[in-house]
Amino acid sequence: MIVGRKVLLKEEVASTNDVAKSLALEGEEEGTVVVAKTQLAGRGRMGRSWSSPMGGLYLSVVLRPDVSVGDMLLLTVLSSVPVAQAIEELTGLEAKLKWPNDIEVDGKKVAGILVESASKSGNVEFLILGIGINLNTDPLELEGRNPGSLSSMTKRSYDPDASMHRALYHLDAFYERYRQGDRDTAEYVRRSHTLGRHITASVGDQRVSGQAMYIDLQGALVIKGDDGLTYRLDSVYTLRYE
Ligand code: BTN
Repeated sequence: MIVGRKVLLKEEVASTNDVAKSLALEGEEEGTVVVAKTQLAGRGRMGRSWSSPMGGLYLSVVLRPDVSVGDMLLLTVLSSVPVAQAIEELTGLEAKLKWPNDIEVDGKKVAGILVESASKSGNVEFLILGIGINLNTDPLELEGRNPGSLSSMTKRSYDPDASMHRALYHLDAFYERYRQGDRDTAEYVRRSHTLGRHITASVGDQRVSGQAMYIDLQGALVIKGDDGLTYRLDSVYTLRYE
């Protein structure tokens, strides 16, 4: 077991990713998890904030995979699968994935992942896998386009500790397979809510619309543009379904 061999519990932090990053910079071994009951400055992808009221699960894992910077996107994409598996086990509801790594139940975003890394000469020194799951939160307290929480969808409440261990169990199994060279995207594709749909992807004021076709070997989303061209999108894009 690597992921979760050490778990640091915090009441309140600015961001668990920041705490994990400071530890990693001081040489913390991989697998250490920082978990907090609430975050004052939770961060999401693309510079957004991540609402982190009490009742949610906010954790970050220090990892030191032997990979290059170019491998990061696929790892980021695939890391959503164990989170989806944990959510499905907890709720009994199907958890789908919106590229690159949003986790949705019934079309609502219930969890998100922020991967941040430090590299030297093109090799990853460490990465911080930050996961936020809206466990018992009221969706009205959450920012974002279409947030949901597990409790609001199932009318049950979820034990944060047990939920964390479910997530860590699946993350550890995933990371073990990843370390052994497994790059299989089949489970990701099976859970994808994006592939086959007509989407608009935007970055800044650039915008491209088309049919989401497949995930390539690096984890990029390949779309057939409405203009007939093929586009390869990396993670800086925001997607909208149409
Ligand atoms: C996203 O969907 O935009 C990613 C959200 C990631 C949120 C988690 S909560 C734990 C960790 N600490 C943070 O500040 N962010 C991540």
